[in-house]
This record gives sequence, structure tokens and C-alpha cells, in this order.
Amino acid sequence: MVFNIFAFETSCDETSAAVLMDNVVVSNVVSSQLFHTEYGGIVPELASRAHISIIHRISLSALKDAGISVKDIDIVCATQGPGLIGSLLVGYNYAKAFAIAGNKRFLGINHIESHLYSCFIGKEEIEFPFIALIVSGGHTILFLVKNYFDYKILGETQDDAAGEAFDKGAKMLGLGYPGGPLIDKLASEGDEKFHHFPVSNVKENIYDFSFSGIKTSLLYYLRNNYPMYKAEKSTEGIPVNNIAASYQKAVIDSLVEKTILAAKNHNIKIIAISGGVSANSKLRSEFLKYENKGIKVAFPEKKYSTDNAAMIGYTAYLKCKYGRLTDVAFENYLYDSAFPRFNYDI
Ligand code: KG4
Ligand code: ZN
Repeated sequence: MVFNIFAFETSCDETSAAVLMDNVVVSNVVSSQLFHTEYGGIVPELASRAHISIIHRISLSALKDAGISVKDIDIVCATQGPGLIGSLLVGYNYAKAFAIAGNKRFLGINHIESHLYSCFIGKEEIEFPFIALIVSGGHTILFLVKNYFDYKILGETQDDAAGEAFDKGAKMLGLGYPGGPLIDKLASEGDEKFHHFPVSNVKENIYDFSFSGIKTSLLYYLRNNYPMYKAEKSTEGIPVNNIAASYQKAVIDSLVEKTILAAKNHNIKIIAISGGVSANSKLRSEFLKYENKGIKVAFPEKKYSTDNAAMIGYTAYLKCKYGRLTDVAFENYLYDSAFPRFNYDI
């Protein structure tokens, strides 16, 4: 029997709904809140209100694209956390109300876990074990994934997330928000050897990351070398493309180095990189070099790198098929949202 899954994602600034027939995505509608650009970052209250104003339309449009009616939906699922609490509440409660009204099964899904599986969207089965690197705007985590829902966290960032390093770096360079895609594009026209930005290592755990130092070193580099920047924060005459390329290289080298080290030390031949930063072209090409060295590298399709409901629906599919509705390693991340811990299967 095929399960028709209706999925919602509203953890941050994307409102998204998707329909899957088992593992196959039949529609995935994503609306991004571009207005945050003018504030240079996400304004949580405005994000929640924007989700409220659009979620019903996005939901109807996902059903229409899929050519499916409400009565044919078997399972409803939504991002349960982590994320911005006001934003989460909109999608979670919309989906839950939808499920209760239609007497459908409901699953709350962990956002990070769904990024982890986004590399395999469409597949009926996944090959294990693998090392997973999740690099988003809010998280940078390295996992050893032994089987479905069987994870060990090897390391994570001690301060800024990789996406945050991109966003904050872009802001200093006078670019817009979100900074990741802008640095990605600008860096492709720059010389990454222009300047060496150091990335600190975390002594206590070789798999932990730290990106706050590089952000400070970018600021000091700009202030110390370009008087116009120090005086007026102007980037006129500054080789922004070369600096963006050098900065991007430093962040990516650290991500690649620790992920490959984890794979080697655990003798694992598959790595899967997901989350918004996994859309980065340089990050993809650097990881793909390891395919010549006997490591299989998996990425999500680019449209599934940044937040989307298809990954939420696919994780729900895996949970239904491979049977675990609660798990251990993700508990901490569930707790940092305001949702209580309970069995989400109503
Ligand atoms: O996974 P995501 O959509 O949302 C969170 O769960 O946080 O990730 C958003 C992050 C932002 O920091 C954004 O700048 C970054 O992903 N990002 C990129 C690229 N596209 C998005 N970073 C580097 N290069 C990109 N092409
Ligand atoms: Zn995300």
C-alpha cells in the first residue's frame, strides 16, 4: 500500500508544503520571505506573521500540484523543532489541526534529522553506515549514522554555525542577506589565495568546529588594510571577490577536513552533506574530490539543500517504514524548542 504524505516546514523563513507518495516527491512548494533582506537578518516576529498569511495558500497549492485531494492524504507531518518558536508554531499547529479535522495520523519531525536524510530523498532504502555533516544557518553538526535513526554526534560547532559565518561575513563585506549564496557567487570570480584567514581548532574535541574567530579576523583584516572601511564601512575599491573567496575557502577547508577525518578514523566510505550551506558550489567540488579516493559523497539536490517540506515528508516516510518514532541523539535538539516530549503519533 502507498502512503500519501502531506508535509509542512516553517521553522525559519521558508513556508513550505509537500506531498509525497511514499518516498516519491510529487509536489514541493516553497515560499521564501525575501523581505528580511532589508533588515540584514531574520526578524522572528515578522517571520511568524508572514507564515500565517501564506500557509493556507501554500498548502492548497501543494495539493493542487500533486493532483490529490484532502481525503486521499494518509499521514500529515510538520517540523516540530528546532527553529524559531513563533514560526514553528504556525506550521505545526496548521498541520496538526489538518490532521485532527481529517482524522489522519500526525508526526512531528526533527528539522536537523530531516536535513540529514535530504541527501537520499526519493530512495526506498539508504546505505549505512555513513558520516553526516549538517551545515545550516543555525547548526553545524557531524554525525556517525549507523542505521535508520541510530546516530552518534561526533562534533558540533562551539559558537557560530557555518551558515552564520557566511551570513555575518557577507554582512561585513557589504553584501545582502542571506549571505551564503552571495559569497558563493562572488567567490567564483575571486582568488582564494589572496589572503589566509585562520580557522581555530577546538582542543577538547577534534570533530568540533569554531567559526567565530574567522569572523573577527575578517573584520580586523578589513579595518587594518582599508582606511575607507574603518572610517565609513565603505567597501569601495576593496577586492571583495578575492576576500570573499579567501574567507569561503577557510570555512570550507575546516568543514572538509573534519568530515574526512571522521570518515577515516571510523573507516567509513560514505559521507552525506546537507543543510543550506551544502548548496555551496565550492563545498560540493571540494568534497567531490574525495570520490577519486574511494569515498562516496552524497548531497541533496540543490532545491533540497535549503529548507523545504519534501525532506520533512521523506523523514516521515522513513519513520513509518523503518519504525522508530522516537530517537535518542535528537532529543536535545527537540528540547531546545518549546514542545514537550511525547509520542507525536496521535
Ligand atoms: O538549512 P537552511 O535553509 O536553514 C536553516 O535550517 O538554518 O540554511 C540556511 C543557511 C543560510 O545561512 C544561508 O546563507 C546558507 O544556508 N546558504 C549557503 C548557500 N545557500 C544557502 N551558504 C553557502 N553557499 C550557498 N550557496
Ligand atoms: Zn534548515
